[in-house]
Amino acid sequence: MKVQRLLFALLTAAAFGWCLSGGSGESGRAVSAAAQIAESTQTKYVALTFDDGPRADTTSRLLDGLKARGANATFFLVGRQIGANRDLVRRMVADGNQVGNHTWDHVKLQGASSSVVKQEIGRTDAELRQVLGDGEYWVRPPYGLLNDGQRALFSVPLVHWSVDPEDWKLRNADRDVAAVLRKVKPGSIILMHDSVPASVDAALRIVDTLEAKGYEFVTVRELLELNGVTPCAGVLYHSADRAEGQTKLTSLSGS
Ligand code: NI
Repeated sequence: MKVQRLLFALLTAAAFGWCLSGGSGESGRAVSAAAQIAESTQTKYVALTFDDGPRADTTSRLLDGLKARGANATFFLVGRQIGANRDLVRRMVADGNQVGNHTWDHVKLQGASSSVVKQEIGRTDAELRQVLGDGEYWVRPPYGLLNDGQRALFSVPLVHWSVDPEDWKLRNADRDVAAVLRKVKPGSIILMHDSVPASVDAALRIVDTLEAKGYEFVTVRELLELNGVTPCAGVLYHSADRAEGQTKLTSLSGS
């Protein structure tokens, strides 16, 4: 087990190294310039992410609130819910948000066969392309769970989180807000659910509180790039903090 962990740590470091060295060209210079600007202006970037939508009433209220506050977020959508909410999904992108894939049926991918993984991801990806056009639709696996070997099945970056208020369980805005404010820091990826009414209230309060402290809410793609991280296919990102991301990736091995 120890040898496996060491090997995995080395492979992970190599993967990160490759991803980072992939940024040595034009885009890499742009990214590192962006990172320098971020540092020099002391802006604290953070990413709010919402799973399990879209849901007509709660998601539209959230989009209204985010827009009013000049905040952007990332939405990982359940494929079978897209068809009835196409205008809402188009609005997410029109407002500057990032849209991603949370499988078709919200199935646990960990332990599933390759064909199930490909079908669950592929069907939602096709639906997103039909509604939004061609693009790169990043994936958040339901429950955040995948086998290490399954990552090779993905042609896009994978997104985990570093702050989880367990909003789906508490369904209490006060507790959600407190839980997020306790753990959040620049570079955090916050997990919430736009399908839960209390979570929408909490998310908007979190935006108000953190914006007043100098935070800016950006998409996950922007968060990584502003911190000099070049997103790579099949790599699971927990936050924009490279050390934290690597540690957590390693700790996932054997789980
Ligand atoms: Ni989910």
